[in-house]
Amino acid sequence: MARVAINVDHVATVRQARQVNEPDPVTAAALAELAGAQGIVVHLREDRRHIQDRDVEVLRRTIKTKLNLEMAATDEMVKIALQIKPDVVTLVPEKRQELTTEGGLDVTLFEESLKGVIKTLHDGDVAVSLFINADPNQIKTAHRLESDYVEIHTGTFADAATFAERQEEFERVLTAAKLSRKLGLGVHAGHGVDYRNVLWLRKISEIEEFSIGHAIIARAVLTGIERSVQEMIALVNG
Ligand code: PXP
Repeated sequence: MARVAINVDHVATVRQARQVNEPDPVTAAALAELAGAQGIVVHLREDRRHIQDRDVEVLRRTIKTKLNLEMAATDEMVKIALQIKPDVVTLVPEKRQELTTEGGLDVTLFEESLKGVIKTLHDGDVAVSLFINADPNQIKTAHRLESDYVEIHTGTFADAATFAERQEEFERVLTAAKLSRKLGLGVHAGHGVDYRNVLWLRKISEIEEFSIGHAIIARAVLTGIERSVQEMIALVNG
């Protein structure tokens, strides 16, 4: 059975839209855990557009499962990770203008600089995951870099426009997951996983953890509307 880790970034996005203190991603994380989530994921971006430093600090002290901190491989973020000590750091590429992470980190291109970052995190007792495309070369590099996990980017699979394309991308993810496992890497998968395409991905037994954000928070907004409206109407009518 694969674990499900919930990314609560979108809760922080709603909060930051008003620059107030609710909804609190820490509360969302606690509720997600009560519902059975086996991990909490947050991406502390360089521009702090959603998750704030305070969120990561409070999550570290309060969550009962595992904290997976997504971050860019920069000196600033490595310093924060060594202070917070998440259970896992997932290294991701980061661009200022992107709406969300657009692809895997090119670990082959950045192999030399990643070596030092991964060693520093390991020396600080922080496990490392590399968010990479479903590409055998990237996986072999992740193995050479002594990463503990890879997170296979499922966005291209999720965005496939036709059935044939989806099948092709599925095969790519499957091959990547098998190779990762063969090399002894832990296998996570994420990006664009939703209530439909997870029925494909769950067939890949090598995937031990899914990292899911948008689909779950989007559904929570809609499934929560009825109760929220009823509670307000009850108050308005005394
Ligand atoms: N994994 C990584 C590395 C991500 O950057 C994201 C998006 O923040 C996710 C998983 C979750 O993707 P989604 O929000 O599409 O479920």
